[in-house]
Amino acid sequence: LLLPLAAAFAPTAFLRRHHTHTELDAVGIVFGTSTGSTEEVADFIAARINSVVGSGTCSDPICVDNVVGSLSSTFSKFDQVICGTPTWNTGADTERSGTAWDEVYYGEMGDLNLEGKPVAVFGLGDQESYGENYADASGELFDVLQKLGVKSFGQTTVDDSYVHEESKAQRGDKFVGLMCDQANQDDLTEERVEKWVGQLVEEGFFSGEGSSPPPVAATAAAAVEVEVSETPIVQVVKDSSKAPSSSVSYESTWKGYRNEEKGSTLWVNKDNQKESYTTQN
Ligand SMILES: Cc1cc2nc3c(=O)[nH]c(=O)nc-3n(C[C@H](O)[C@H](O)[C@H](O)COP(=O)(O)O)c2cc1C
Repeated sequence: LLLPLAAAFAPTAFLRRHHTHTELDAVGIVFGTSTGSTEEVADFIAARINSVVGSGTCSDPICVDNVVGSLSSTFSKFDQVICGTPTWNTGADTERSGTAWDEVYYGEMGDLNLEGKPVAVFGLGDQESYGENYADASGELFDVLQKLGVKSFGQTTVDDSYVHEESKAQRGDKFVGLMCDQANQDDLTEERVEKWVGQLVEEGFFSGEGSSPPPVAATAAAAVEVEVSETPIVQVVKDSSKAPSSSVSYESTWKGYRNEEKGSTLWVNKDNQKESYTTQN
């Protein structure tokens, strides 16, 4: 299943930056996840960046659970950072990710020196089941980063493809970053990721030359200098060992999300997704 999805991200042409910046791992992606979808989108974004901006530009996405306690050294490894989160904890005002982000927002993150660091945010939610709270946690992630003085990139226009009613990730007619919905609109994710990475290029995110993101239309001509070669399509093959660690099983009423790392299963009521419980085994 993963291979065709990833292969769909193969670029139609191989675009390569042809000036100065050649350092590897310029971009880091740090994500949280409970059931693997945010990791999947993080992998798509990384693959797209490496195809469009240059191979090795973006390192393997890092799960925030694995870097609690060493966030400072993690963030300082990269020139630019992309942060991603799902939304859980419906109804709460804060600590909405359901991941280790919640443990660090109002503690460890306060000690980070991110003043002026280029940062972009992406988030996942479920517009059908949580239409009044769609991707709320992305708004919280964005706000925490803003308070630390980061330079924000990649805010997107809320277009007609979104069907939610309310979202704390929406500010006026913009989302704070790239919003995806793997529950209802996974068929739109490829296009959304491609468009967003293109927007980040136009905004100067990868060149380190961007200031506050100007309107996209005004910057179309100022995209990073690129060279289109006739190199055949690059096949993006996912390493199966990096597949999300969760697996899904169904019972009559409950849908179980197995998390191998934690040795637990989260059971969500299929008729009312706000009801859930966790079993350890
Ligand atoms: C118990 C529960 C609560 C959720 N709360 C929200 C919510 O408030 N807003 C939203 O947009 N999505 C909500 N979701 C949907 C998840 O954010 C969505 O399934 C997401 O893709 C999960 O990402 P992950 O697999 O990376 O954890 C919730 C899902 C569950 C099971």
